Amino acid sequence: MKYEILPSLLGADIGNLREGVVKARDSGADALHLDIMDPNFVPNISFGPDVVKLARTVAPELPRCVHLMMRRPDLYLEKFAAAGADAIQVHLESDCDLHSCLARIRALGIKNALVVNPETPAEKTLPYLKEVDGILVMTVHPGYGGQSFISECLPKISFIRAAAPELDIMIDGGGNGQTIPLSAKAGANQFVAGSFLYRAPDMKAAVEDLRERLK
Ligand code: DX5
Ligand code: ZN
Repeated sequence: MKYEILPSLLGADIGNLREGVVKARDSGADALHLDIMDPNFVPNISFGPDVVKLARTVAPELPRCVHLMMRRPDLYLEKFAAAGADAIQVHLESDCDLHSCLARIRALGIKNALVVNPETPAEKTLPYLKEVDGILVMTVHPGYGGQSFISECLPKISFIRAAAPELDIMIDGGGNGQTIPLSAKAGANQFVAGSFLYRAPDMKAAVEDLRERLK
């Protein structure tokens, strides 16, 4: 299974997002992770479709993975697809018909994924496993970058991996040189890292080091 590393633009300097996108592209990362926050769903607000558009303009070749931390993601799918999302991830805890939402994302010609918060049991993903391209296991409570990895989420990754051997499983939150290899051991193959990669003096070296640790 291919390992993928995704810098989260939330970890970049908000005053220079263009440079944040360039850094991610030049690091050799596999894709860019963009965190969209709705204050009805998480206790924070980040950015919207225009930043996804900016990422596409600055680095069209770097795929854009859009994580919708929204109560009603179903109302915004077309907007984010038009802005350049290559994958859209929606929360199991959101307030919409998920079966239809996941199907609509695929109908837009992009990949879907279902996200589970730390307190949501892994069993709740079972009814959706045949309808998704991936599962995103949150390893922090969504809303802020720079939090510590919650290791109690690791068994959830193993449970989902056992149920879906071929599926992409991503982790998001607190990813670094220690927690990413641990998540890989549990069965994840896609790894988001925001503050760890953007705070590294050399993001390219940090991405290469992560790839070494995953060998
Ligand atoms: C949290 C976001 C994460 C976050 C990761 O709400 O979904 O993507 O940016 O940042 P770090 O790696 O700093 O935990
Ligand atoms: Zn995220």
